[in-house]
Amino acid sequence: MKIKSRKVAVIGVGNVGSHVAFSLVTRGITDELILIDIKEDKVKSEMLDLKDSLANLNSNVTIKIQNYSELKDAEIVVIAAGPLPRFEQTRLDTLDDGIKIIDDIMPKILESGFSGIFLVITNPCDVITHYVLEKSGFPKSRVIGTGTSLDSARFRRITGDILGIDPKSVSGYSLGEHGDSQMIPWSHIYVGGKPFKQYIESKEELKNTDLDKILKDTSYAGWEVLLGKGATCFGIGTAASALIKSIFNNEYSVHPVSVFLDGEYELKNVCLSVPVILGNKGVEEIIELKLTEEEQKQLNRSAEVIKTYIGKINK
Ligand code: 2OP
Repeated sequence: MKIKSRKVAVIGVGNVGSHVAFSLVTRGITDELILIDIKEDKVKSEMLDLKDSLANLNSNVTIKIQNYSELKDAEIVVIAAGPLPRFEQTRLDTLDDGIKIIDDIMPKILESGFSGIFLVITNPCDVITHYVLEKSGFPKSRVIGTGTSLDSARFRRITGDILGIDPKSVSGYSLGEHGDSQMIPWSHIYVGGKPFKQYIESKEELKNTDLDKILKDTSYAGWEVLLGKGATCFGIGTAASALIKSIFNNEYSVHPVSVFLDGEYELKNVCLSVPVILGNKGVEEIIELKLTEEEQKQLNRSAEVIKTYIGKINK
């Protein structure tokens, strides 16, 4: 009997790609892993280092490197190649480098016969997700950016710390751009089923919680990590592997990820993060939250920022 193995390719094994790979291996989410990078030595070392974890893990994974033809029967290709924003740059400033990378790898991916799901991490994530969708010609359900799945984890960590509760018990997301223009739909944030604002108002010590500061801290969280260690990797590695787990297990779990909007949230022709149900087919459904007028304005502003940068491609 031939049982199809769960196969993921990670293109770009710098700090981000290697931690996505490590998270996939340690959580037993994939059976076969293909690693590709422009640096031959680095990709070989990452493969060996990952393999050195196998003797002490519960699952086995076949790991291969540098072969695009392996992508033919992969279910998921993770695009993690790209530079980090330098000091005083935003993620949007890395657009030209990101586009060059996609232009280089996309023909090789398509030539392999790959027909699975793209998971885009390369920054600026939303603009690059849009570009991958366009270049690949894949249906929009099969091109997903990690988007604010990472920012939402940061938001839940920051809020959880303020409230003194487990981040998993804060339900809600940061939406829009994986970048400075992201927004938090406060009318849809809950603590144990209780609306967030009601929860903080019910407690003397939380009454003056500064919501704007939570948003600022959430969108700045990546920089705080970058400043001290020169990279962000555990958060994104875990976020990406959680999305891949949902797809492989056909979980139908909801995640904030960057997807192409075609009228949802009154927005068209832009990729940005909104809550999405993920399953075997990729995007199974986009969940439309009823935003307040102010929240809708904030999401529109974020969409405008992303569209401006989409417009700069090839100009
Ligand atoms: C992050 O937010 C830099 O986009 C990367 O960790």
